[in-house]
Formats: sequence, structure tokens, C-alpha cells
Amino acid sequence: MGPDGKRLPAVPHKKRWWILGGVAVLLAVLVVAIAVPVTTLLDDKDNNTTKSPDGTVEPGTGPGGKVLTSGGDGTKIRMDNGTIFTYSNPFGGTWSSDLTDNSARAQNYTPALNATWDYAKNRILGVNLGGWLVLEPFIVPNLFEPYENTSSPILDEYGLSQKWQSEGQLEQKMRQHYDTFITEYDFALIAGAGLNWVRLPLGYWAIETMANEPYLPKVSWEYFLKAIQWARKYGLRIELDLHAMPGSVNNYNHGGKSGVLNFLNSAAGMQAAQRGLNYIRVITEYISQPEIANVVPIFGIINEPNTGLGIGVENLKRFYSEVYQEVRNITGTGAGKGPIIALSDGFAGLNNYQGFLSQADRVAWDQHAYVAFTPPFPDRTGLTQTACNYYGSSTDGYFVQNGLTIAGEWSLATNDCGLYLNGVGLGFRYENSDQADKSHPQYFGSCVPFDDWANYDNSTKAAMKQGALAQMDALRNFFFWTWKIGDSLRTGKPVNPNWSYLLGIQQGWMPTNPQKESNGFCASYQKQNSSASITWTGFTSWSSTFSDYMTGAASTYNPQTQTFAWPPTSMSTGIASNSNVGSTPVSAIPSYTATGTPLSAGTPTVSASISGEATPTLNPWANNSKAAPAYAAINGCGYYMDIFNVQNSDNVGQWPCAGSAPSKRSPQPMPTPVASPNPGPAAPASTPAPRRR
Ligand SMILES: *[C@@H]1O[C@H](CO)[C@@H](O)[C@H](O)[C@H]1NC(C)=O
Ligand SMILES: *[C@@H]1O[C@H](CO)[C@@H](O)[C@H](O)[C@H]1NC(C)=O
Ligand SMILES: *[C@@H]1O[C@H](CO)[C@@H](O)[C@H](O)[C@H]1NC(C)=O
Ligand SMILES: *[C@@H]1O[C@H](CO)[C@@H](O)[C@H](O)[C@H]1NC(C)=O
Ligand SMILES: *[C@@H]1O[C@H](CO)[C@@H](O)[C@H](O)[C@H]1NC(C)=O
Ligand SMILES: *[C@@H]1O[C@H](CO)[C@@H](O)[C@H](O)[C@H]1NC(C)=O
Ligand SMILES: *[C@@H]1O[C@H](CO)[C@@H](O)[C@H](O)[C@H]1NC(C)=O
Ligand SMILES: *[C@@H]1O[C@H](CO)[C@@H](O)[C@H](O)[C@H]1NC(C)=O
Repeated sequence: MGPDGKRLPAVPHKKRWWILGGVAVLLAVLVVAIAVPVTTLLDDKDNNTTKSPDGTVEPGTGPGGKVLTSGGDGTKIRMDNGTIFTYSNPFGGTWSSDLTDNSARAQNYTPALNATWDYAKNRILGVNLGGWLVLEPFIVPNLFEPYENTSSPILDEYGLSQKWQSEGQLEQKMRQHYDTFITEYDFALIAGAGLNWVRLPLGYWAIETMANEPYLPKVSWEYFLKAIQWARKYGLRIELDLHAMPGSVNNYNHGGKSGVLNFLNSAAGMQAAQRGLNYIRVITEYISQPEIANVVPIFGIINEPNTGLGIGVENLKRFYSEVYQEVRNITGTGAGKGPIIALSDGFAGLNNYQGFLSQADRVAWDQHAYVAFTPPFPDRTGLTQTACNYYGSSTDGYFVQNGLTIAGEWSLATNDCGLYLNGVGLGFRYENSDQADKSHPQYFGSCVPFDDWANYDNSTKAAMKQGALAQMDALRNFFFWTWKIGDSLRTGKPVNPNWSYLLGIQQGWMPTNPQKESNGFCASYQKQNSSASITWTGFTSWSSTFSDYMTGAASTYNPQTQTFAWPPTSMSTGIASNSNVGSTPVSAIPSYTATGTPLSAGTPTVSASISGEATPTLNPWANNSKAAPAYAAINGCGYYMDIFNVQNSDNVGQWPCAGSAPSKRSPQPMPTPVASPNPGPAAPASTPAPRRR
């Protein structure tokens, strides 16, 4: 039944169908209980026919021709693009296309969206939707390969957007990617694979861009809204991950622009951070609405800010203190009021954040668990050992010391081999050919054999699966990076197999029942293999509860945000290879002032192409009276800083109004570009740093 009480129109019958993904099941034992989500897709081209040729149940309908709007395993679902498929969910999961209720549940062990998620009891079993709304060369290689052997290879979404813009194709090509790389069908497969959350990377350009910023503005927001509805339909929860910020936060391609770190660093460092605060406000206002809150309960407000390369832990904490106040000011404190705020350790390790914001309302910590970027590289069994012994015991400690800790990213990679894994044209530490990191000059072997996943033998698959289960057990709450790797032009197939969950379930190295198989894995592995020297076999320090602050059940909160007050007093103004705060006084760095017209994400429209499905009428703001002013240019200082291209300290102090007190305020950010020489593709920083990839 549609929300307006109308029945959905009869669904046309299938014309032809094909199988997506065969499965090589690795361990015969597992086959019995677990069906991998192999699902038939039905093409819906012939929409005149209303009866199946065999006279049985019409696709999308139940007995008697009644159109289904909810169901479980084995029911037929019509997707928002019209295609029909049979839902495969062997875990008792249910779906509902009535977007006015939140009754769907991903599995019988996962609370329905309208029930309470207990962060101490329920495990987050998730995947990232990497490479979708924020592009990464190693995830969608075929978007970057056409340029790789040209005189100007394209390194990142910044360069690709410029290229597509110059061809007059930016929106068309980006939409083509958004429409096909992740669809509703992926959400159905994710729930059917036994997973219950997705982490969704989003770039700030979903909200706005300013002059000279080449990203396609606003369109990815539409797809974020689709993702909310698809998650709602299949009972999945979303951790929204604001992955790319103005100026780039880490100098990696996934920060938006490779080789640039101008967020809380450089002459643009304050403006970048202030714009970041604007966008965090807009997003928080949006996702705090009651229609959305149950589907997007966690907001990761920044991804992998590089404290070791210019930002520094102190200034990151100052930024976090301000974010905390901003977010909690919007809806107040206590469970249900605004999202859980997930904060990245910024490569510094969570021990650096113990005690920080410890009595704040619902702060969670994001750790990324990668062994692939730091030689010496573990072998297959080494990954399992590191997972149990190191990640298990450290996570156990973080639960006690820091509170709710989530592994926002991890993979099966044991080394940095793989097409574009470190970036386009950068080479690999494993082969001692990495252009960016020369800190471990040692040749470990050739990268060539690793990509040949079609010929992996059973023992390789078994080792990969063991590595997966060990990490799942040790990290407890996790998001694998990433759900899907796209095809390469080289092979016409996915590459980087240790980074694709979907390929793993299709090829038999990912568990088909992630919750059941990973629970207690380290303990049983220790019993099986005494020579593996497993020392961590379960959470013993953590008492399986979180304090009232962490769950929003406290009567008062004392976040002590004044300990690290905003704004910073000084900052680095070049990419500095240390974790200390740089020495340029912030008063010499241009800032905006918080008096601009409140920003909003625009009029939210949720496209629902199936008539009868709800189009929730949402406001851009959870509470209109909380629409606070945005940071905007100081009037009379009509500067606009080309935020990705300011790189050196020469500019500091030369900008008009740096450090001066504003007298009058402009209502809008000023999009007048200051001429700045385009430095071309930025060279990667030569400084070794903990890098994701
Ligand atoms: C590998 O595993 C598959 C699936 O269990 C099995 O059919 C095949 O015989 C195994 N191959 C070898 C060489 O053990
Ligand atoms: C709908 O989405 C599915 C899954 O991505 C795809 O296979 C199918 O071709 C799409 N149907 C149409 C009509 O575009
Ligand atoms: C969730 O929604 C369903 C359908 O509206 C309803 O039957 C159920 O009682 C709700 N559960 C909770 C915990 O509110
Ligand atoms: C670029 O060159 C490399 C190395 O010769 C080759 O493997 C690759 O296929 C080329 N890419 C394209 C798109 O032709
Ligand atoms: C939060 O609210 C307090 C009290 O109204 C105010 O002093 C503070 O400036 C606000 N902070 C932010 C970041 O909105
Ligand atoms: C992928 O995982 C397997 C099993 O752990 C490992 O042997 C292999 O080296 C990994 N390959 C890469 C490129 O990380
Ligand atoms: C047991 O652990 C050792 C040491 O990590 C490893 O070399 C061996 O392959 C493991 N045996 C099995 C059966 O997994
Ligand atoms: C909206 O904010 C105003 C001002 O803070 C407050 O008085 C009101 O109760 C809020 N409304 C809701 C529904 O939270």
C-alpha cells in the first residue's frame, strides 16, 4: 500500500533475466546454512504485459495479484528504476517500500529501523560505499585509465571534474557514474549478505562549490537522498561520512585533491575549516529530522585529517570541540537528539584522544585498520595474527578508554600492490617503486601476481577469509573498505580483489554469514592452531556496556570543550612533516565571519519514480529557528581564496583583512576569484606519513 492509501500499479512481467554473480563456496560445511545472495534480476522493458507466461504469480505481487510493498526472503521487489528482482535474504530480513514507516530490518539479529539500536549489544557489520559519491582512482579505475598514458594523467576527482567540464560533459558523465556504480540493488545485496550498516562517503560539493572549485555541485546530494530511501527500504542504517572537505584534509586523492592539505593548514586553513563548519551544520540539520534520524544515526564529520602532515592533534581537537558544540546546539543533548558524532583519530591513534570530550554526549571514535601501507608486510597468517593480537586488544582498550569505537575502514590487503592503490602513477612500496614514500627502501617482491583473483587457489581464499573473520571479530563494529571495486579497462573485470566485499562473496573468500562466523573467531582460531600464538581471544577489559555519556543517557554532560577552544591560535602554513601545530599566528591568516545567510542543502526532493511510494516532505532544517548564520567573507574584504591552490606561506599576511576585526558583514560568501597561478597536478608530498592509500 502506498502511503497515500493508493495501491501500486500492477507490475509488468519479466521479459528476460540473468544471474548476477556466481559463487564459489569455499568450505562445504558453510554451504548448508548459508545461501549467498545470488539474486535474479528481471528486466522490465515490456510493460504492457501483466501476466507471467507460466500463469503463476506476477512479479511484484503476492497471491491474488495483490501488489507487495513489503516482504522478506523470496519475495519479488520492484526497484525504483522499474526492474524487478527476487529478494534473497536468508537471515529473516524484511523490506518495506512504504517510506513512511521504518519497519524494515536487515536481518533477524538486527533491530528494525524503528527499534532501538543498542551500541553495546548490537554489532555494526558494515561496508563502505567508497568510490560512489567521492571518486577514487583505485575503486573506479576505468574513469581514470583513459588519461593515464597522456601528458597530463588525471589524479583525482578534482582533475577529472576539470577535464569533464572542459568537454562540457561534467554533469552527464558524473550522473552516469552515480546512476550505475551503486544502485538500489546493492542495498538489497548488502542486507542479503548479512550486513546491517553502510558508511557513505560524501564530498562537501554535495552542498555547494565556490569559484574555481571544479567539482559538480549539489548533484551528489540527490543521490545521498536516494541512498537514505534505499537504506530505509532494506532496513540498513547509514553512517554518513563527510569524506572530502574544502582544501583537502590529508593530501591523498580521496581528500578531493591529491598533494594538497589546505584544511587547518596553509593560508587557506581557516577558511577551509570555517566552510567545513558550515557544511557540518547543514548536514546535521538535515539528518536530525525525525524522518531521517533513524536511518542516519551516525555522522562521521571528517575523514582521515592528516595530523602528522600539518594539521596537528591540538588543532584537530579544537576543531572537534567546535563541531561538538555546533552539532549539539542544533538539537540539544540526549539519545535521539541529533546524530552520534564520529571523530577520526587523524592517523594519530586513539590513545591520543583519551579523556578528550570524555563526558560529551554521544561521541564515537573512528579507527582505520590497515596493515597494507607499512612495511614489513605480513604474510597471510600474519594478517590473522595482527588482527586478533593487535586490533583485538587495542580495540578492547579503546572501548574502555575512548568509548564506542568503530573501524570505519579496513580491508584484506596485506601490501600496497594494486592498480592506483597509492594513487595514479605512484608505484608501490612492495616493489620499492613508491614515488611518495621512500621511507622503507626495500624490495619485497613483484606486485604482478596479486591481481589474478580468477586463479586464486583454495588455500589463498581460505587465508583471505581467515583474515576477514579475524578482523571482524577483533574490530567488532566495522565497515569494510569497500563494497565494490569497478572494472578496469585492462581486464574488463574488477581489480584490487582484497578491497572488494562483493567480489569476495561472489568468489568465496568473504564469509556468507559475517555475524555468526566472526563471533569468537580469534578464540576458536587459537584452539585450532596453537602455533599461531593468538593472545587475544575476546573482549575482557571492556565490560560490554558503555557509560551514560556515550549512549546519551546521562542527565548532564560536561564536554569540557574549553580545554581545546576554537579557533586555534596558530597553524602550519606549509605541509609540515610533524604533528606539532605550526607557528603562524592565526591572526595573520584570513578568516570568514559567522554572519552570512544560513546555508541549506536546498529544497530536498526525494525522487521516487514508482508512483505511490512516498516522497517525504522534508525541510532543509530540523528546526527552522536553529538555522544559524554561515561563515562568510568579511565585508570590504572581498577576497575569495582559491582554497585548493594556496600552498605556501608567502601568501600569509598578504591577503586583505587578514586578522582584522570585521566591522560590516557580507551576507554571502564572495565568489570573486583571486588570480592564482594553477600549479598543475600537485606533486605528492615527499614526506612519509601514515597513509591510507
Ligand atoms: C576448492 O574448493 C572447491 C569448493 O569447495 C572444490 O570444489 C574444489 O575441489 C577445491 N579445489 C581443490 C584443488 O581443493
Ligand atoms: C536497474 O538497476 C539494476 C541494478 O543496478 C540494473 O541491472 C538494471 O539494468 C536497471 N534497470 C534499468 C531499466 O535501468
Ligand atoms: C515498527 O513499525 C511497524 C510497522 O509500522 C510496527 O508494527 C512496529 O510496532 C514498530 N515497532 C516499533 C518498535 O515501534
Ligand atoms: C597505459 O600504459 C600501460 C603500461 O604500458 C598499459 O598497461 C595500459 O593498458 C595503458 N592504458 C591504456 C588505457 O591504454
Ligand atoms: C552553542 O550555543 C552556545 C549557547 O547558546 C553559544 O554560546 C555557542 O556559541 C554555540 N556554539 C556553536 C558552535 O554554535
Ligand atoms: C591479498 O590477501 C592474501 C591473503 O591474505 C594475501 O596473500 C595477498 O598478498 C593479498 N594481496 C594484496 C595485494 O594485498
Ligand atoms: C598455524 O599458524 C602458523 C603460524 O602462523 C602458520 O604458519 C600455519 O600455516 C597455520 N596452520 C593452519 C592450518 O592454518
Ligand atoms: C526549535 O528551536 C526553538 C529555539 O531554540 C525551540 O524553542 C523549539 O522548541 C525547537 N523546536 C523543536 C521542535 O525542537
